[in-house]
Amino acid sequence: MSHQAHTVAVRASGVDMFFGTPENQVVALKQADFEARRGELIMLVGPSGCGKTTLLSVIAGTLTPQAGTVEVFGQRLDGLGQEELTSFRRKNLGFVFQSFNLIPTLSVVENVMVPLLIQGRPYDEAQARALAIIEKVGLKGREEGRPNALSGGQQQRVAIARALVHEPPLLICDEPTSALDKDTGAHIMELVRDLSRSPERCVVVVTHDHRIFRFADRIAEMEDGRISRVVDDPKLLDTSHL
Ligand SMILES: Nc1ncnc2c1ncn2[C@@H]1O[C@H](COP(=O)(O)OP(=O)(O)O)[C@@H](O)[C@H]1O
Ligand SMILES: [Mg+2]
Repeated sequence: MSHQAHTVAVRASGVDMFFGTPENQVVALKQADFEARRGELIMLVGPSGCGKTTLLSVIAGTLTPQAGTVEVFGQRLDGLGQEELTSFRRKNLGFVFQSFNLIPTLSVVENVMVPLLIQGRPYDEAQARALAIIEKVGLKGREEGRPNALSGGQQQRVAIARALVHEPPLLICDEPTSALDKDTGAHIMELVRDLSRSPERCVVVVTHDHRIFRFADRIAEMEDGRISRVVDDPKLLDTSHL
């Protein structure tokens, strides 16, 4: 195996993603290339509508692009059937959705247990791990309530707990601090960054929040459906224009 094969966690190459009809087409991704490395936290930044959420969905295998290839931990997603893809996602992926996507009929702790239960983990273990991560995101005491009884920031932290609970090899977060104050956002980003600190893992974070740029190992800038620039040392980045 080449050195590259060891270091690359996610590779998207020449990805096109269009929405709509041929007469009324929206180009979301146009020949997009993106690479994330093992053991890193990479951020994806860019103006609204430039294709960030679409790129995350393509990497997560929830959208199939019209052109190009996506490889996650050496596995080509287009080489998997629907069932194999589902099982690959269960094993490898945690996703924090921009809109949280919590299940309103389940309690907070039940929501957080879901990834472990669908992996077939025993109920007691799932519950214990869910309670532990709920405490880490600062929601102790809210376990038995419904998500709708929580504030936006609290719901966002439930969504983050659910994405972290099974310590997924690939964690994808779509604007994970959008509803959080500065200190809570920094605390959450510490948890997220800690997860990335293993050669078996990788974290991709879309954000507009310049207060959390310091948690990135690299920052990829996106423009008009493709990555326009990758900054290798975000600490040197003048982020005033972002
Ligand atoms: N399901 C969809 N149907 C039609 N157009 C879409 C859909 N999803 C995204 N788009 C369009 O694709 C472009 C990129 O969207 P998106 O990836 O959500 O951008 P971002 O996350 O950077 O704001 C936008 O023009 C958006 O309107
Ligand atoms: Mg988006």
